Amino acid sequence: MSSSVVAITRPLTAVILAAGQGTRMRSALPKVLHTIGGKPLVRHVIDTALAVHAGRPILVHGHGSELLRQALADIDMQWAEQREQLGTGHAVMQTLSLLPADGDVIVLYGDVPMLTAATLQRMQEAARSADLVLLTVELEDPTGYGRIVRDAAGGIAGIVEHKDASAAQRAIREINTGIMLASARRLRAWLPQLRNDNSQREYYLTDIVALAANEGLRVAAVHPANPCEVMGVNDRVQLAELERYYQQREARRLMTQGVTLRDPARFDLRGSLDCGRDIIIDVNVVIEGHVTLGDNVVIGPNTVLRDSRIGAGTVVQPNCVIDQAEVGANAIIGPFARIRPETRLADDVHIGNFVEVKKSTIAQGSKVNHLSYIGDTEIGTGVNVGAGTITCNYDGANKHRTIIEDDVHIGSDTQLVAPVRIGRGATVGAGTTVFKDVAPGKLVINRKEQREIDGWQRPVKKK
Ligand code: UD1
Ligand code: CA
Repeated sequence: MSSSVVAITRPLTAVILAAGQGTRMRSALPKVLHTIGGKPLVRHVIDTALAVHAGRPILVHGHGSELLRQALADIDMQWAEQREQLGTGHAVMQTLSLLPADGDVIVLYGDVPMLTAATLQRMQEAARSADLVLLTVELEDPTGYGRIVRDAAGGIAGIVEHKDASAAQRAIREINTGIMLASARRLRAWLPQLRNDNSQREYYLTDIVALAANEGLRVAAVHPANPCEVMGVNDRVQLAELERYYQQREARRLMTQGVTLRDPARFDLRGSLDCGRDIIIDVNVVIEGHVTLGDNVVIGPNTVLRDSRIGAGTVVQPNCVIDQAEVGANAIIGPFARIRPETRLADDVHIGNFVEVKKSTIAQGSKVNHLSYIGDTEIGTGVNVGAGTITCNYDGANKHRTIIEDDVHIGSDTQLVAPVRIGRGATVGAGTTVFKDVAPGKLVINRKEQREIDGWQRPVKKK
């Protein structure tokens, strides 16, 4: 199909099954709220459904409903409660009153997070010439899964669950991933026909396959591009395996876009990253929330960037934490710097080792290079803050602001007791405690007296 032709597919509604308890996670959190790449499993599924323009998804919930509602409050969704988990067919039955009159329904699992929109699209395309589309894979070891039973002509005749399967059927390696697509109209006709006369006394959704086949309808199978797309999470080992799969996939995507990752196996994306050109990311960098990096940015090893923007040409040296901050272009940050929320650093700013900056703005070309705390502060352009400078912003009850105007030089080991303003071009002598405003251009000092004591003996340790 040429890219100028828009595929005509019927409106799609996603039914996401998430009522199971997830016992093997051994967790107080519902299984589908555990995260991959910093995002709850079920959100991956919802986002994939929305990526193929599925309308308001229907979530079938049972265990941990309250926590689910809290965690997903921002999503326009429909909620179908399944009080008792009587099987996947029973789960979909709970959505009957919510299903649209027309269009297609895709059944997804809330604990199968890596499914791609491309695979869903291929299922939609297959649905143009089939009444029921299954997503299936061949596994070396199909133990536990429902098997795809085919007739002599190779057509799909039904699905038999592992526990109900004969020895011959257990030898079948093509398995049901559980993900399937059918028209809402057909689904509404099939669901009431499901019975629970099987070894697990469950209403199997998979029984709709035999119903379709018996009606002479066409059942098609589509395979995912990568088998990991249909892997479910049942325990924390599988969670970690899929986390790795996800991280490799995202690392590959970024490298394809032109980002250098020094080691894609030591990079973690827990959110989204917008990148300019020729960015270099060293090992053990963690990206959280939404991060934007300009052209030629270099991120050193062992750095965490969370919800921040970093301008072109800036170098973040090793071991920094930058959280909800904006850094301009050609800045140098770190090593060992902590840039906290609501900080804005302009172009050419230098923040050095063991410097913490919180809720402050630092204008172009200013430097805070060593061992300092800058909080609730406005620093102008061309300011040099000496080693060990502390803004005393907290009086024990309230926070106060410090204003440091352009071209101020602050000597080492200085305390600036807020609220306080240092006028433009002023100089603060080393070791000064500034507790009153300083006028522009002045030198301010409050040195202690220095004396030398003759004949002084160091104490000696008693025997
Ligand atoms: C199901 C399929 C099986 C398939 C396998 C793939 C049926 C009868 N069997 O197996 O063919 O190979 O998935 O993993 O459909 N759920 C509910 N309510 C329920 C039961 C399940 O919401 O009453 C949800 C679970 O939370 C889970 C999903 O449905 O997300 C699948 O349930 P699970 O018990 O893992 O699958 P099986 O029924 O064993
Ligand atoms: Ca089950």
